[in-house]
Amino acid sequence: MIDTHCHLTLKDYPDINEVINKMGNNKIIVNGTNDEENKRVIELINKYPNVYGAIGIHPEEIDKITTNSFKYIEENINNSKIVAIGEIGLDYYYETDKEKQKEIFIKQIELANRYNKTVVIHSRDAIKDTIDILNKHKNKNIKLDIHCYAGSVESAKELIKLNSMFGIGGIVTFKNSKNIKQIVEEIDLKYLLLETDSPYLSPEPYRGKRNEPYNILYVAQKIAEIKSLPLEEVLKVTTENAIRQFDLD
Ligand code: NI
Repeated sequence: MIDTHCHLTLKDYPDINEVINKMGNNKIIVNGTNDEENKRVIELINKYPNVYGAIGIHPEEIDKITTNSFKYIEENINNSKIVAIGEIGLDYYYETDKEKQKEIFIKQIELANRYNKTVVIHSRDAIKDTIDILNKHKNKNIKLDIHCYAGSVESAKELIKLNSMFGIGGIVTFKNSKNIKQIVEEIDLKYLLLETDSPYLSPEPYRGKRNEPYNILYVAQKIAEIKSLPLEEVLKVTTENAIRQFDLD
């Protein structure tokens, strides 16, 4: 199994060796959101054989951008263990500068186009603008991971045409998560990826506690239950999906 999205870059992991070793040979993709975390992503991928990385500037971090931010991404983008630009996108949940967010999002999509990298998308309350920008600016062949997808089945179908897969995390195990359960039910398993978004969004039975990559097992179990499939098949297919979407070896 592969945890396609987490933030082991954060200070929540004084026990990071144990957290990563618990995954054994299973792979982990850590995502950066700002300069400091992007540097930490590089440290982690250099240190742990089963850890891969995505680097980028998150829409809620754009105030921290420096002249070095994009330079650093570009300098490290050809590292063989950097498998994506992310997480990047749009977040309209808080009152922030939408135009600036769009500008930074587009700039990073153009980087992905230039270096032929997968993009990890964060989109909150902004799915229409996200799809519009991807339609306009993304090269057709560039693959997408729509992290923590929470939109409609219709938008999901539009996104599939744009070469997307959908990151399914702990929320699917929550009692009141009708929307995501419907996505899992209606969207073919070949478009689904497992993710934890650690340290956030722990699945049941650990809801409210610190999350970690190993907990994707509970997400996979829930997907198996919703789709009436054996757990083994969910693990196998989602792992193949992640290998394909991130060009992992
Ligand atoms: Ni995230």
